Amino acid sequence: MRILTICGSIRPNGLTNTLLEETVDELKKIVPKSEVERIQISDVKINVCKVSCNSVCSNNPYQCVQQDDFQLILNQMKHADMILLGAPQYFRAPPAQFHVLIERLVASFFNYECSNPKGESSPVHGKLCGIIATAEYSNPYVIMEYLADFCRILKMRNVVLDNFPYLGVAGQRSIEGTEIFHPHQRCKELAQKLVNLSKVLQ
Ligand SMILES: Cc1cc2nc3c(=O)[nH]c(=O)nc-3n(C[C@H](O)[C@H](O)[C@H](O)COP(=O)(O)O)c2cc1C
Repeated sequence: MRILTICGSIRPNGLTNTLLEETVDELKKIVPKSEVERIQISDVKINVCKVSCNSVCSNNPYQCVQQDDFQLILNQMKHADMILLGAPQYFRAPPAQFHVLIERLVASFFNYECSNPKGESSPVHGKLCGIIATAEYSNPYVIMEYLADFCRILKMRNVVLDNFPYLGVAGQRSIEGTEIFHPHQRCKELAQKLVNLSKVLQ
C-alpha cells in the first residue's frame, strides 16, 4: 500500500505532522509493508499561480507551464493509493505556502475541466484522502472544510469518520480541544477506514 502524506505546516515537528505520523503508524500496524512518501510544504518549491497563462492548463490535461515542484507533486499524488492531507490554521487561514500549492492544483484542474478539450477526467479521481486539521484557539473545522473542498474539486474521496468531527482528524493545543476532538482515537479510526475502503475498491 502506497501512502503519501502532505503536511501543510511550516513546522516539520509540529502538531500537524505528529497527527499525520500517528495515522501513518496506525496504517502500518494494519498493513506493515506499506511504503510512505512524505511532502513537507516548507521543503517544496512552488510558485503562485500566474493566472494569465491559463490557456496552457485549459488545453493540456492537468499540466502547468511553470518549472517548479507542481508536476512532481501531482505525480506523487497519482502514484499513491491513499493521501493524508494535513494543515494547521495560521492567522485564520492555512499557511500561505500550502495555499499556493492548493491554488496551483485547483487552478489546473478547474481550468482544464472548464474547457476539457480532450475529455480526460481527473487523474486522481476517487483517490482516498484522509484529512487532518489543527488549530490552537480557533475551530479546526474551518481548515477541515477547506481540505474537504480541495478533495472535492480534484474529485478525490474524502474518507469521513463515524464520529465527531466526521470530516477527519482535528487537533487543538488545549486540554478542552483534546477532550472534544479525541485526535488519537480518530487517527486510529481514519487508518482503519482508509484500509477498509482501499480493500473494497481493489
Ligand atoms: C503563525 C501562526 C499563526 C497562528 N494562527 C492561529 C489562528 O489564527 N488560530 C488558531 O487557532 N491557532 C493559530 N495558531 C496556532 C496553530 O494553529 C496551532 O499551534 C497548530 O497546532 C500549529 O500546527 P503546527 O504545529 O503543525 O504548525 C497559529 C500558529 C502560528 C505559528
